[in-house]
Amino acid sequence: MNLLEASIKIILKNQSKYGSYIASPNFKQYMYCWIRDGVFIAYAMDLTGHHKSSRLFHKWVIMVIEKYSWKVKCLLKKLRKREKREENEYLHARYTLEGHEASTPWPNKQFDGYGAWLWGLTEHIKITGEEYLIDKYSDQIKVIIEYLANFWNEPSYDCWEENPDKIHTSTLACIAGGLSHINSYLKSNEISKLVNKITSFIKDKCVIEGHFAKFYDPHTNRAKGVDASLLWLAYPFRVFEPEDPQFRSTVALIERELLEPDGGVHRHPEDTYYGGGEWIILSAWLAWHYIETGRKEEAWRLIEWIESTADDQGNLPEQVPHHLLAPEYYEYWVRKWGPIAKPLLWSHAMYIILKKKIYHKYSL
Ligand code: BGC
Repeated sequence: MNLLEASIKIILKNQSKYGSYIASPNFKQYMYCWIRDGVFIAYAMDLTGHHKSSRLFHKWVIMVIEKYSWKVKCLLKKLRKREKREENEYLHARYTLEGHEASTPWPNKQFDGYGAWLWGLTEHIKITGEEYLIDKYSDQIKVIIEYLANFWNEPSYDCWEENPDKIHTSTLACIAGGLSHINSYLKSNEISKLVNKITSFIKDKCVIEGHFAKFYDPHTNRAKGVDASLLWLAYPFRVFEPEDPQFRSTVALIERELLEPDGGVHRHPEDTYYGGGEWIILSAWLAWHYIETGRKEEAWRLIEWIESTADDQGNLPEQVPHHLLAPEYYEYWVRKWGPIAKPLLWSHAMYIILKKKIYHKYSL
């Protein structure tokens, strides 16, 4: 069986009967469903014609939003009264497979997954033609739009669940991208204005030395850092076009600082999680950029590298511990949480997306 087929099988096997996708079935901390991971997994299922799987996932998200929409109401009330809001009062980043908040503490205040979900739902509708879902799910879509519209400029944890006191460029990419995609159906002036506002914020606050920065620090009023998730600005969210000069400089910086010439892509230079190895999802993201910009050889090199990280059963890990940025942390994490998560469903999803994109681009 080739890795594409194996990846589809692994994802389908690990989707719960409720519709949620477990992040990784063999890793205790990842036995939950993250909205963020799930969105890309569902997209991969849509690209391979497994619409039933992605439809079930979106239905699961709707059920979760319905269950926790009271939290958004409470937050908005507190916002109006200018009352302090606690981290745990925000919508969570991950849920049990049944769709409950997990009882163990987690850095849950993350907005990117909900923005990405608006994008993912739009793609699902575009691919399947299920436009009726816009009406059917209009209440829950509204809750998320209101949530993002009111809190997008608050600091939050980023997609790596770090740096809670910063405003993260890739989080803003998910929010602006999600809002603008869903607005292709809603056609609201208010949402267009909001998207422009977030995009202007990124241009004004999240740029340094001609490239996009990892985050904006509201305490120092400075932007800083590089992170491979900045690729999300263009793929898939199209907040900026791949030809945008600042985006191009960002890619060049990612290539200089985070790409291993004979390996994959790191998350960010300060990464210490399992020693800061090379991530499958991010290597796929850079390859996605190479495909879209006609850099076919470089894309294939990364595809082959990703394939080389699969085990005999075709399981892809979250990251591989080669070219570690902080080797002294590797053993620490293995002792704490066990071996690196494998299979990671998001890694499989990104591999599927990549293969679909390259086949489509070059009519293979
Ligand atoms: C990553 C998140 C991811 C989660 C589950 C974490 O280690 O930082 O981006 O959503 O794992 O895969």
